[in-house]
Amino acid sequence: MAAFDFNEFEEAEAPSSAPQLAVAVVEPIPGVRLDLEDRLGPGVSGFEAIEAVLPRLVGSPTVVVLGPSCSDADVLSSVERSLSGRPDVGVVLVADELSTTVLQLALRSGVKDVLTLQGDTLQIVEAIERVGSGLRSDSGATPASHLPVVTGGDDSELGRVTTVFSTKGGSGKSVIATNLAVVLAERSEGPVVLVDADLQFGDVAVMMKLAPTHTVVDAVSNIERLDASLLESLLATHEASGLRVLPAPLEPAFADQIGANDMVKIIEILRRFCSHVVIDTPAYFNDVVLGLVEVSDDVLLVAGMDIPNIKNVKIGLQTLRLLNTPMEKLRLILNRANSKVKLDIGGVERTLQVSAEALVPSDVVVPQSVNKGVPFVLSHPKSGVAKSIRSLADTLLDEDAEVRRRRG
Ligand SMILES: Nc1ncnc2c1ncn2[C@@H]1O[C@H](COP(=O)(O)OP(=O)(O)O)[C@@H](O)[C@H]1O
Ligand SMILES: [Mg+2]
Repeated sequence: MAAFDFNEFEEAEAPSSAPQLAVAVVEPIPGVRLDLEDRLGPGVSGFEAIEAVLPRLVGSPTVVVLGPSCSDADVLSSVERSLSGRPDVGVVLVADELSTTVLQLALRSGVKDVLTLQGDTLQIVEAIERVGSGLRSDSGATPASHLPVVTGGDDSELGRVTTVFSTKGGSGKSVIATNLAVVLAERSEGPVVLVDADLQFGDVAVMMKLAPTHTVVDAVSNIERLDASLLESLLATHEASGLRVLPAPLEPAFADQIGANDMVKIIEILRRFCSHVVIDTPAYFNDVVLGLVEVSDDVLLVAGMDIPNIKNVKIGLQTLRLLNTPMEKLRLILNRANSKVKLDIGGVERTLQVSAEALVPSDVVVPQSVNKGVPFVLSHPKSGVAKSIRSLADTLLDEDAEVRRRRG
């Protein structure tokens, strides 16, 4: 492939008032570099190191995409030094895993966005466009986007991924995830899978009275050869609803063996044959949760109606914003919303600056159904809690149908 020539690029294609956006991939490992170049499409060139890009910069807006090998402190600080005082260059990092350490390191070095290699190519392209649109050329003009439409992989066939998250334990994540998944299983044409990503203390299997023979540990120990049929054979089935379940490890110690990449890979395989994937999570951010949030279409943030809960959700929201999680993904679910406490819903919404998508009332049938191991949408379908979960499921299904209709 011809060397990436910023001069030629600018002269040949750009209208004089709006120079084209140039994209350079920096990654020392050739295979990884070529893979990234391929994914980002024609017009993107690869370099082994940032030093190789510098002589090519001629003042036209350029987005540098750093590959996974660039996510260490030394490389990032040399990138920062090389590019300081260059309003025409923006940097995006595509890391192997999205850990808080990498994220902080990258953001401190002036990187504008951090994504994972396993994530959607479209997300990387969107990040490049977002960063590119904030750049200035030497002439002061902002760039015209030229990025190719990414082809390959038919997104309209992929199942919707919904992560249920909260930075507070006991807020009702597992109860909401299990009941929502049951309703989705009843209403969807294709399979629906509930994944228990609370790897240390997951209790989805207990809440559904399942005695699983396999867990996520089996999927991860076969990760290299994992495909749809192997993964499908590891799923437990909740007979009453048809919901498929990938339970958490039986021993908390096994959690250490499972990385964010593994979980993301599992979700990517599941969504190829499922209508919907629902993910239950632990009450803290770790790289697994960050990876899952990134691949999710919806992130349901569950908040209880008390001050510590709201405070924790606020911190969670700030972290998600810092991670550049698109805010359209986030939906606030207020649990125990009818509690006789002194917090009013409007006040909570104002504090969090998000409006609530669902209000789940407090109801004694919830702990009763948890103890029986029967989701309340099945044991008490007429209860207010069951209605609130069904209406949440309707919202997600309607939106999914709308997205598919728009994609054609
Ligand atoms: N809307 C509700 N009404 C009554 N009890 C609830 C409600 N939501 C959750 N609970 C109770 O709170 C406990 C914790 O819920 P759980 O879903 O396990 O929280 P998390 O997964 O966030 O730690 C459950 O045992 C359940 O009985
Ligand atoms: Mg839980």
